[in-house]
Amino acid sequence: MPIVPTPHASARAECFVESVIREMTRVADAHGAINLAQGFPDFPAPEALKEAAVEALRADINQYAVTWGAPSLRGALAEWLRRRRGVEVDPDTRITIVCGATEGMIAAMLGVLDPGDEILIPEPFYENYGPDCILSGAQPRFVPLAEGFRLDPEALEAAVGPRTRAVVLNTPHNPTGRVFGREEIEGLCRLCHRHGLLLLTDEIYEEILYTGPHRTLLLEEGMDERTLVVSGASKTFSVTGWRIGWVISPESLTSGVRKVHDFLTVGAPAPLQEAVARALAWDDAFYDGLRAEYRARRDLLVRGLQEAGFRCETPEGAYYVMTDVASFLEPGEDDAAFALRLVREAGVATVPGSSFFADPARGRTWIRFCYAKRLETLEEAVRRLGAWASQRPACSS
Ligand SMILES: Cc1ncc(COP(=O)(O)O)c(C=O)c1O
Repeated sequence: MPIVPTPHASARAECFVESVIREMTRVADAHGAINLAQGFPDFPAPEALKEAAVEALRADINQYAVTWGAPSLRGALAEWLRRRRGVEVDPDTRITIVCGATEGMIAAMLGVLDPGDEILIPEPFYENYGPDCILSGAQPRFVPLAEGFRLDPEALEAAVGPRTRAVVLNTPHNPTGRVFGREEIEGLCRLCHRHGLLLLTDEIYEEILYTGPHRTLLLEEGMDERTLVVSGASKTFSVTGWRIGWVISPESLTSGVRKVHDFLTVGAPAPLQEAVARALAWDDAFYDGLRAEYRARRDLLVRGLQEAGFRCETPEGAYYVMTDVASFLEPGEDDAAFALRLVREAGVATVPGSSFFADPARGRTWIRFCYAKRLETLEEAVRRLGAWASQRPACSS
């Protein structure tokens, strides 16, 4: 009998591990812990949005939409961008509707970068960007944020080489909760101009911030022609399972993104595109309410964490708190072991900080909490963490 090799995964797929964030959700479920790990709400989506989806299904909008997005959604999005972001975008030439910002980022990378192109990624970073680079053949250069999780212009400049083609920016930022300020953004844009770089901005938390309205990178001088904005409905409308996202690209790059999107997924769910189109027409009161609710959740969690002895800053946006747990670690314990211990001992699941760093050692003392949860959920989590912290022996390392 000839020896037949065992089937194996591709070398490319072997280059990255399963998502730690999604794994922590399974660990939480297995232990009956409160899941403050993965970034999704435990509260219902807006009633009017669900009604709009039901109507679309009843109207038999069940077949493929136009691959790059239903005209109704692209039109509604262009109008929304004019009203809420102050930018004019042609829906026919610059908007591609995709299956969530997740697909948006990989379609953008595959559509505009060549294998071997280098891409700068400020670190810590949302874990998907690593596999996105591997799948698209781009070489990531991770550039640590400076003290206070600030963009570091000198470090970014020093990381630019002859093959650098793009920078990934995520603001409001997961996992740190930073909303990058004027000076940081202007510095980054100058870098892009100086070196002719593209900017891939992940603005998925654009409506969840506490420091004033979001300013899209498309508004920065001269950036319109070199910026691809990735965003979507998941976070704004509390529908992470609907998989409706978008990419706004310069006209010259749109066909690259659209062709990749077409062959990856054909299109985003047709009836849900119609529902999101309706939601984009809601007035500003919806966003004021969303922000007020998230502010209350943030304040509850940050206060509770600080009272329990966790070291953290108050986030400016998104719905995460990054906490330094150095004082809680037992000798030899790292963030992953600590996160598992917190599930077992306190009944609260978080994400180990190392999943946001290229070198896990750099995230060894951090964990991330998500507060996209009902106030009752957060109250119970805070109660559990307080009880757990009060039973601990005096701090170790
Ligand atoms: C920074 C960032 N980008 C993208 C996503 C995924 O967005 P979507 O559900 O639209 O794929 C997340 C989800 O947590 C995120 O934190």
